This record gives sequence, C-alpha cells and structure tokens, in this order.
Amino acid sequence: MLKPEAQDLAAIASGLAHDLNNLLLVLQGCLDLLRLSGGNDNVLLENMQKGITEGTNLCRRLGEVCRQHSSRTVLSSVDREMSVLDINQMVRCVVDLAIIKARNGIEIDLELEPDSWPVFGHELEIKRLLLNLIENAYDAIYSGFGVIRVSTENICRPYGRQVCLSVRDTGIGMEPPVVKKIFTPGFTTKSDAAGHGLGLPVVKSIAEKHKAYIEVDSAPGQGTEVRVCFPAFEEHQAINS
Ligand SMILES: Nc1ncnc2c1ncn2[C@@H]1O[C@H](COP(=O)(O)OP(=O)(O)O)[C@@H](O)[C@H]1O
Ligand SMILES: [Mg+2]
Repeated sequence: MLKPEAQDLAAIASGLAHDLNNLLLVLQGCLDLLRLSGGNDNVLLENMQKGITEGTNLCRRLGEVCRQHSSRTVLSSVDREMSVLDINQMVRCVVDLAIIKARNGIEIDLELEPDSWPVFGHELEIKRLLLNLIENAYDAIYSGFGVIRVSTENICRPYGRQVCLSVRDTGIGMEPPVVKKIFTPGFTTKSDAAGHGLGLPVVKSIAEKHKAYIEVDSAPGQGTEVRVCFPAFEEHQAINS
C-alpha cells in the first residue's frame, strides 16, 4: 500500500498517463490517415506536431513539479509528527501538483493571506485534505470551463484566531439535501468509476483531528465553497492546555 502522499502523486500521474494516451491515440489516427493519403497532407502533419508538442510539454511539467516537490513531500511522509506549518506554503505545493493535471478551460486562482498565521498539524494530511477539495471542485465544473479559487484568510472570531482555507468553484453546486449527506462515507453522486464517496469523509476526519471546523456554502448552478478553519497555532496550544 502506498503512503497517502504517494497515492496522491500516483493519482495525478495516472490522470496524466490518461491524457498522454489520448494524445497518442490522436497521433496514431493522424498517422494512419496520412499513410492512406500518400503522406502529403499538411493539416494532418500540423495536427501531429501539435499533439507531440502538447505531450512533450505535459512530460516537462510533470518532471518540473516532481523535482520541486515530490522528493521533499514523499520524504517528509516518514515524518508523521505534528509541526508548526505555513498554510500558504502547503497550498502552493498542492496547487502546483493539481495544476499539472488541470483540464483546459479550468483555471486555478490563488488568493493567499499575505502573513497567514501558523497552524499546528500534520503537513501531509492537510495537503491531502486540500487535494480532495480541489478534485471535487474539478469534478463539479461539468462544462469544462470555470474557475477554482483557493484562498487563505486570518480571521478573529470571538472564540479565537482562525486560519481559514477555502476552495470555491464555479461548478454545478448542490441542492440542500445533497449538502446534508456529503460527509457520509460512501455517499457519491458520481458514476461508479469516478466516485467512491470517501473524499469528504477523509476531509472531515482530518479537520476533526486538527480541531478545525468545516463550512459548506453551495447552491445549484451557483458553485460551491468549502471552508476549513484551523485554530491558529497559539489557539491550538490553548485548546490543548
Ligand atoms: N465542489 C463540489 N461541488 C458539487 N458537489 C460536490 C462538491 N464536492 C462534493 N460534492 C458532492 O459530494 C459528494 C461526495 O464527495 P466525496 O466524498 O469527495 O466523494 P466523491 O468525490 O468520490 O463522489 C460528491 O459525489 C458530490 O455529489
Ligand atoms: Mg471527491
């Protein structure tokens, strides 16, 4: 069984492999047609060149991101201890991973609190939580065109200081009865292959472990925002003392 972070990387790699495979199928089709047409069709040649360039770019991006993050994050998976974390740094790392499998037409925007307060937690688990939220946001944008905004914000509440991590999408949104069920293990509205109904239960359990709470704001056709609010580091110490 792979470690969680390696599973995330494996899921991304598998998405990329799927995209590359589709490109290769297109190239194969063009090549077959080219052979049949005697090899003088410039449009087909151009399409093949585009496919090859896109495939090469995908591989380059995967290589860059792996070099930047995977050795650091996979190595740190040995370290399961809680530590003081910079949430913005984690967001940048996860978004870099998510962007390489971004489908055309879906944009990921960052809106980060310039001096976000530190939080105390498991780095890999918080990254896993965020990756699950981004995956759901992607899936919700059925049209293939939309924006996912990942933001962080320092908030002073009457009961303490919070660092809120939010993922907002312009996807299909949810009816209130669906929102009620989303944290139930096994609940999914996706086809068998696409959904297992385990993403948000994992998000919930990670949030609970960090004494964070989750807010969901969604309406059909209006998109969805999921906010996970962590106690700032000093607040976390106060809760546990
Ligand atoms: N951003 C979102 N937009 C719309 N629906 C969502 C979103 N996130 C979660 N959901 C709903 O919650 C369900 C459960 O999500 P999750 O636990 O991640 O399982 P899965 O993604 O495998 O279906 C999804 O099937 C979907 O109906
Ligand atoms: Mg999911």
